[in-house]
Amino acid sequence: MADLSTVFTGIRFENPFLLASAPPTESEANIMRAFEAGWGGVVTKTIGLHPVVNVRGPRTAFLRADNGGTRLSMAKRPDSTLVASWNWELISERPLDWWVGRLSAIKKAWPTRVLVASIMAGSGSDKELANWQVLTEAVQTAGVDAIELNFSCPHMDRVDMGANVGKDPVLCSVSTQAVKEVARIPVWVKLTPATADIVEEAAATFLGGADAISSSNTFPSLPPIDPRTLDFEVNVDGYVSSGGLGGPAILPQSLAKMAQMTQAFPDREFSGLGGISGFDQALSYFLLGCGTVQVATAAMLDHAIGPNVITALASGMTEFLERNADRGWTSLADFRGLRRGNVVPHSQIRRPEASDYHGGYEDQTDDDAGGLASG
Ligand SMILES: Cc1cc2nc3c(=O)[nH]c(=O)nc-3n(C[C@H](O)[C@H](O)[C@H](O)COP(=O)(O)O)c2cc1C
Repeated sequence: MADLSTVFTGIRFENPFLLASAPPTESEANIMRAFEAGWGGVVTKTIGLHPVVNVRGPRTAFLRADNGGTRLSMAKRPDSTLVASWNWELISERPLDWWVGRLSAIKKAWPTRVLVASIMAGSGSDKELANWQVLTEAVQTAGVDAIELNFSCPHMDRVDMGANVGKDPVLCSVSTQAVKEVARIPVWVKLTPATADIVEEAAATFLGGADAISSSNTFPSLPPIDPRTLDFEVNVDGYVSSGGLGGPAILPQSLAKMAQMTQAFPDREFSGLGGISGFDQALSYFLLGCGTVQVATAAMLDHAIGPNVITALASGMTEFLERNADRGWTSLADFRGLRRGNVVPHSQIRRPEASDYHGGYEDQTDDDAGGLASG
C-alpha cells in the first residue's frame, strides 16, 4: 500500500508537498483553502517587523514562449507555454500582530497539517538579531510547527536583509544561532542560490544550528526589453530593478544547487523547491535526497493555491509507488536519495576509449617511465 506520509525535522506530514512562501500563502483564507485542497504543509509568506512598501504596479509577471516560435515575452497571449515567473515583490505587508492570531486560528482548524512561519529580520546589529528572536517567539507561541528563516529574497530594498544575509556565511551562522537560542520548534533556513558555492553557506547555517535547509528561492534576473517600445516589459517610469526568476526555467539550476548540498551533507535534511509543477519534478528533488518539496509559481497559476497541482502531486506519487511496488517501495523513505551519488566530477564520466583518457591531461606514463629509466 502506498503511504504518502513522512517525517521531516521530526514533524509528521500527511504528504511531503508544501505550498512555498509566496502569494498563495499570504492570507488566512488562502492557507485554509490550501489545507482543504490537500497540501501537507504550507510556509507562510515571509513575516517581518520593518515597514514594507511594494513598488507601483504589477509585482509578478509570467514569461512565456511562443509554441513553435522564438518569441519569449511576458505579454499574455494564446498558443504559448509558461517558461518562468518573474517577481520583485517584497515580504508580507501585514504586520506581525495581524499574523499571530491568524496563525493560531489556522493551526486550531487544521491540527494535523504542518504550518511553517517564514520570518525575516535584518543583520549586522544586536537590535536586528533581537528582532529575529521577537519574530521566533511570537510565531511559536501562536502554535506554528516550524520556522523558515528567509536568507534568500533576491530583491530587498534593505541591504542587510534577504539574500544579502544568505551571501555571507558569518551572517548565516549568527542569525541562525540567534533564532536557535529561543526556538523550541524546528528551524529551517531558506538559502539564496545566488552564491559561488552554496555548500559554504549551508555549512555555516548548519553550524548555527539549522535543522534543515530549503532551496531554491528565485534567481536574480531582469525582464526582457520590448523590441517595439524599447522598455523593460515590467517597469515603473521606465526603470526596473533585479527581481527573482521562478518556475520551470529554474528547475535544472536549482537541482544543481541541491545536489551540491545533499552530497556535502548526506545526513542532513533538505526541502527542495524551484520549478515544480508535477510529480516528475518533485521526484528529481526526492532522488537527490530531499525529504519534502515546495511549490510557488505553479500554485499561483492554479486558482491561487494550486488545488489541481496538489491533487496531481499526490496521485503522481501514489502511482509511482504502485509502479515500483515490486521493488518493495511503499513510501518516500524507500527511494529518497537514490541518485545523490550519481552526480560526479566531469572527469569521472566514461569516455568512448577509457584507456586514451587521463582526466583532460596528457598521458604521463611515458614521461614517468623515462624518468625512472634515467634515474
Ligand atoms: C510572487 C512571489 C513572491 C514570493 N515571495 C516570497 C517570500 O515572501 N518569501 C520567500 O521565502 N520566498 C518567496 N518567493 C519564492 C518562492 O517561495 C520560491 O522559492 C520560488 O518562487 C521558486 O519556486 P517555484 O519555481 O515553485 O516558483 C516568492 C516567489 C514569488 C513568485
